[in-house]
Amino acid sequence: MTQSSTQSAQKTAHRLRCIGCDARIAGLDAAEDFRCQACGSLFEVEYPQIFSPDDTAGRPPAGALHAEWKTLWADRRSSHAPLDRSGVWRFRELLPFLADKRHAVTLEEGNTPLYSLPRSARSLGLENLFAKHQGMNPTGSFKDTGMTAALSVALEREFSWVACASTGNTSAAMAAYAARAGMRALVLIPEGKVAWGKLAQSLDYGAITCQLKTDFDGCVAVLAELVRRAPVYLLNSVNPYRLEGQKTPAFEMAEAMDWKVPDHIIVPGGNLANCSALGKGFAELRTLGLIGRVPRISVIQAEGANPLFLSMSQHDGNQIEAVRADTRATAIRIGNPASWQKAVRVLRETGGWCEQVSEQEIALAKAEIGAEGIGCEPASAVTLAGVKKLVSLGRVLPDETVVLILTGHTLKDPEYTIDFHRGSLLTAQETTVMLAAQRSRMEALARAPLVLDPSVEAVMRVLDAEVRQ
Ligand SMILES: Cc1ncc(COP(=O)(O)O)c(C=O)c1O
Ligand SMILES: [Zn+2]
Repeated sequence: MTQSSTQSAQKTAHRLRCIGCDARIAGLDAAEDFRCQACGSLFEVEYPQIFSPDDTAGRPPAGALHAEWKTLWADRRSSHAPLDRSGVWRFRELLPFLADKRHAVTLEEGNTPLYSLPRSARSLGLENLFAKHQGMNPTGSFKDTGMTAALSVALEREFSWVACASTGNTSAAMAAYAARAGMRALVLIPEGKVAWGKLAQSLDYGAITCQLKTDFDGCVAVLAELVRRAPVYLLNSVNPYRLEGQKTPAFEMAEAMDWKVPDHIIVPGGNLANCSALGKGFAELRTLGLIGRVPRISVIQAEGANPLFLSMSQHDGNQIEAVRADTRATAIRIGNPASWQKAVRVLRETGGWCEQVSEQEIALAKAEIGAEGIGCEPASAVTLAGVKKLVSLGRVLPDETVVLILTGHTLKDPEYTIDFHRGSLLTAQETTVMLAAQRSRMEALARAPLVLDPSVEAVMRVLDAEVRQ
């Protein structure tokens, strides 16, 4: 396809809408930093041909028109074509932003498991508690679903370089997809605050990795200036195509539940793109008549990185103040979230809440998810800690179906897990202020590695002691 026919196809299939001033622009006209030049807000991708309310007159209801897609999407799972095997691109009818789908760069992401969490459900008195494990993606986090989408746009637009500021997972995903596409990748990460697994991935996939002596928000500021000066394509989640990929787990969940959505989805909140993307996915399915209602979507933040929680509780979501973020859940150590307005809209439209959880609650919840044989990285565990709060506040009821979005794999941050089991994760002060029940639950889950003499007797003594407990 020639450059000009590529461009005209892109113009007709999708456009970008500014969420601040409602301006519409062609995808190709977005500024390098993906901010609206009139008001500075972010854009979202729109598909007039699929969703325009104007052109439905005289046609059958949308649900009837699009019901056949359900079969098509399911059938693709048994295909051997890489795009069909991707849990993102098998829904490509709802992602028509590439002029030519041969530009799609895929690692067969998505199609992640929806696990039940029977022990956590029982202790919370819930009938149906599930985990949608986005950590089971090719690079171990939910970022892959967004990266396959946005990096494909970069390839189609003939960029050689892509770049991101990251708390670690975006950089791992970007580096991998860039390597697949034969593109160069530039990663800016905060020095000392990125989990080892993620830093190792960025290096392994060949990205130029810069550890800046600042936090995530400082890395974002440097990159925003850099993309104005150099021809690199920005792949942070201000890039609206990232959210197009990240909306697809909503399709997978609806499909897995036979197009009857759960009552409540719980999402960790950092830069707040993921909750926004899932909200967009469910809203699109409802507009098409493929589901009858949308689930509540609630966002959970760490107490030390809680700007959305403060915004909702102090300003009703009408304004946000940046905080100096600090939490051991480094993936969500973000004080100035770019997508906060999109997230507030999702909370309002779905009737969800924003809660905050402590470092102790995160540590305990992560161990509990591990004890289910599933595991996740610390940032993902805020979801279980958060649902405990929502249950105790009566915001989640016993007969409701709840899905926790686990965003990252447990192997992303092994240091955190080992410190927990060795009893060195929390400070003495943090341990002292815990409730006795919480502390004893934590002690029961902690399993420090045992260093023994190399004898059967030594191992037998350990077994005997366990059996006697
Ligand atoms: C594991 C993990 N969970 C949650 C988040 C937060 O997602 P978002 O920034 O879209 O709110 C991130 C972001 O880096 C992450 O890596
Ligand atoms: Zn605007």
